[in-house]
Amino acid sequence: MTSLTIKRSQPLTGQVRVPGDKSISHRAVLFGALAAGDSRVRGFLRGGDCLATLECMRRVGIEIEEVSADELIIHGKGLHGWQEPYLPLDCVTSGTTMRLLAGLVAGAGIFAVLSGGPQLSRRPMGRVAEPLRKMGATVLGRDGGKLPPLAIQGGSLRGIDYRLPVASAQVKSAVLLAGLFTHDLTVVIEPGPLRDHTERLLRAMGAPVRTMGAKVTSEAPTVPLQPLDLRVPADMSSAAFLLTAGVLTPESRLTLESVAINPTRCGLLDILRRMGADLRISEEAEVCGEPIGHITALASPLQGVTVAGEVVVRAIDEMPILAVAATQATGATLVRNAEELRVKETDRIAAVVAELRKLGAQIEARADGFLIEGPTRLHGAVVDSHGDHRLAMALCVAGLVADGETTVMDTECIADSFPGFERLLVKLGAVIDE
Ligand code: S3P
Repeated sequence: MTSLTIKRSQPLTGQVRVPGDKSISHRAVLFGALAAGDSRVRGFLRGGDCLATLECMRRVGIEIEEVSADELIIHGKGLHGWQEPYLPLDCVTSGTTMRLLAGLVAGAGIFAVLSGGPQLSRRPMGRVAEPLRKMGATVLGRDGGKLPPLAIQGGSLRGIDYRLPVASAQVKSAVLLAGLFTHDLTVVIEPGPLRDHTERLLRAMGAPVRTMGAKVTSEAPTVPLQPLDLRVPADMSSAAFLLTAGVLTPESRLTLESVAINPTRCGLLDILRRMGADLRISEEAEVCGEPIGHITALASPLQGVTVAGEVVVRAIDEMPILAVAATQATGATLVRNAEELRVKETDRIAAVVAELRKLGAQIEARADGFLIEGPTRLHGAVVDSHGDHRLAMALCVAGLVADGETTVMDTECIADSFPGFERLLVKLGAVIDE
């Protein structure tokens, strides 16, 4: 088991680029496999989760060349070119892989078994099984299709009108992707602004995917999907750890290059700014329909805030690092409406509370979030990632502001989404021992 030991930090300074966006990397591979021709993807995230997607695509007969560490050529076979895999599609730890693939297997009309490791096998899949069954697919799984593995027999699907019962971009994507294979319209109604990478990327490929307020539709394309030529922007969810470290560590000023600043992913920036953080965006541009920009974080004093409603969905993956920021803010920070945290890689409410308490934080769990009183002078301790990449990185950032030394146990999971995390932190000035 690997661990990282972090010392209280000197100012963090410099300019770096964090790895490619995880959500966009998954989609680039999955959608590239549906294109008629060869897609080129640079800046692909070579994290465990996206590599699982890559292997799954190989098992349905898609040839993928790994030209360099982060460059792929995907030989797409069109919407109807996937082979029925005789081996299970192993999604390892990746919920995005399993849920998006469920929609695609259902639509492609093949039979496939979608499996995962112990962590993924505890995560809810009824949320994708239910709409896909309504569209006409057969979806079996443990506990009546609620838990992996899933066995899916796709077929001739029909379009549905589906109001999402949970705020999940993965479920929205699964239904919209299945909708590409139907002859009528599929309509998904979002409960709030969910990440929309599926829509943006599919539109860039010429797919008939439309958004009208909370309503998103998809239908069968009349022409083949165009291959992608994409440089994946840097991941906001990875940037979040370094930006927060910059805000919390006195006298820091750091810049992260070409981060995806899609508003559906910028909840943490909005919350931190409301708390008083000085975060500046420059060099704005666009790639394949996705806005990007450099983000500079300057050390800033923070105030506690209440976080609830739509911004929670736009910051859902950033809640562990927000909790760390809140320990350093003056006053109470209350996070509500974040019950989805209970079904992420771990129960992120219980795990964040348990681990931050070991560092001296005043944090209390609520059914749908947490309450933190600050500011607290954290003290170094031995803490555990629970095998959750985002918790591991949040705890490392807590270690940068804690007195003495903090050892985070079980840190190999960091490579699920942010390979090279500790190397970049050291480059910015942090002191970390492996
Ligand atoms: C993701 C959607 C979110 C997010 C996950 C990635 C995606 O999950 O937490 O890390 O790429 O669509 P949910 O759809 O379950 O909210």
